[in-house]
Amino acid sequence: MTEEVEIKEGLQGVYIAKSSISKVNGEEGKLYYRGYKIEDLAEKSTYEEVCYLILYGKLPNSKELDSFSNELKKERILSDETIEIIKRMSKKAHVLDTLRTAMSSISADDPEPYSSEEEKNVHKAVKIIAKTATISAAIGRVRKGKDIIPPDDSLGHAKNFLYMLTGEKPDNKKAKLMDVMFILHAEHSSNASTFAALVACSTLADIYSAVVAGEAALKGPLHGGADEAAVKMMQAIGEPGNTEKYINEVLASKEKIMGFGHRVYKAYDPRARILKKYLDEIDGNGEEEVNKLVKIALNTEKIMVDRLGKSHGIWPNVDFFAGPLYMHLGIEPELFDVIFSSSRTVGWCAHVIEYWRNNKLFRPLEEYDGALDLEYKPINER
Ligand code: ACO
Repeated sequence: MTEEVEIKEGLQGVYIAKSSISKVNGEEGKLYYRGYKIEDLAEKSTYEEVCYLILYGKLPNSKELDSFSNELKKERILSDETIEIIKRMSKKAHVLDTLRTAMSSISADDPEPYSSEEEKNVHKAVKIIAKTATISAAIGRVRKGKDIIPPDDSLGHAKNFLYMLTGEKPDNKKAKLMDVMFILHAEHSSNASTFAALVACSTLADIYSAVVAGEAALKGPLHGGADEAAVKMMQAIGEPGNTEKYINEVLASKEKIMGFGHRVYKAYDPRARILKKYLDEIDGNGEEEVNKLVKIALNTEKIMVDRLGKSHGIWPNVDFFAGPLYMHLGIEPELFDVIFSSSRTVGWCAHVIEYWRNNKLFRPLEEYDGALDLEYKPINER
C-alpha cells in the first residue's frame, strides 16, 4: 500500500530557503528591504540606492553610491546584436518575449556567464539591471516605429529611462514617480518569478538564465501581467459612473477583479498604499484619459475594500494602482510588463547570489496518479 502524501498546491505555506533580502508581513501589510521600511525607501531613496542596498545588504555612503551609479551608467549601452534582436522582434512579439530573448543575448557577450565568485555575480547583476532598462525603453520605441534613443549619462536611472522611452526629459515630479515605481517593484521575496529564477540557478545555470526564467514566470496575468489587465479593465469600465455595475457583474460571475488579492498579503499591500497617495495627487490634475482612469481606480478601490477587504482579506495589490500612474508617465499598458520586469531584475539577482551561498538543487516530488504495467501493443494492433 502506498503512503498518503500531503500535496501543498502552489507550494502554499512551504518555506524554501532562509533569506535576508526582504520581509513581507502579510498579516499586517508591511514590507522591508534589508530591514528598511518600504515607505522610507520610497520617500527618501532612489532606485540606484535601493539596488545597492538589495545587492550589498547595506545602504551605501555617498562615495559607494557614486561609484555604483557610474557602473550602472557604463553598463547601459547595448551591443549591435541585442539591438538587432529588439528591432526584429518588437513589432510582433509580446514585449516580455522580446525582453527575454534580448536578455539571453546579453549572456552571449559575457565570456564567463557562470561564476562561483559572488563579487563577479554582483557586477553581472549591475550589467543586467542597467541593460534591462535600455532594452525596455528600446522595445517601447521600436513597437511604435520610432528610433531607439541612446542613454544619457547626465541622467539618473529613472529619468534616463523615461527619456529613452519618450524622448523627453521628465520634470522632477514625474522622475520621482518613475523612481518610486522602480523601487516598489524591485523585490518581493519568493514570489513565482523569483522562485522560477531560483529553480534555474539551483542547477548552477548562470545568472542570466535565472533572470530569463524569472521573466518567463512574470508574464502571466496572475503575477506581473496583472497591472496591464487591471488598466484594461478600467478602460473597459469606460466611465467612473459605470464602476459599481461592472464590479457587480464580475463578482456575480465569480471572476476576479485584476489587481486585487494576494497570496501573502491579507491586509492592504503597503506598496498599493504608497501608490494610492500619488493617485490622489493626480486625481483631476492629469490628462483627460488619465483623470478618468484615476477616478475609476479610486471608485473600484472603495467598492472592493468595502465588500471584500476586511471580510475576505482581498485588498488592492501593487498592480492595481500602477496602471493609471504609468499612463500618467506616458507609458502604454502593453509596456507595463517589461517595466515591472526591469525593476525586479535586482531582486532576482540578489536572490540568486544569496541562494548560491548554500545551493541545493530544487527537486520536489509528484504523487504519481496513473496506470502501471500496461501491456505494450504494436501499433498495428491498437
Ligand atoms: N477578485 C475577486 N475575488 C478574488 C480575487 C480578486 N482579485 N482574488 C481572490 N479572490 C477570491 C477567489 O475567488 C477565491 O474565492 P473562493 O474561496 O470563494 O473561491 C479566494 O479569493 C481565494 O483566491 P485564490 O485565487 O485561490 O487565492 P490565491 O492565494 O491563490 O491567489 C492571486 C492570489 C492569484 C493573486 C489572486 O488573488 C488573483 O488572481 N488576483 C488577481 C490577479 C492579480 O492581481 N495578481 C497580482 C498579484 S501581485 C503581483 O504579482 C505583483
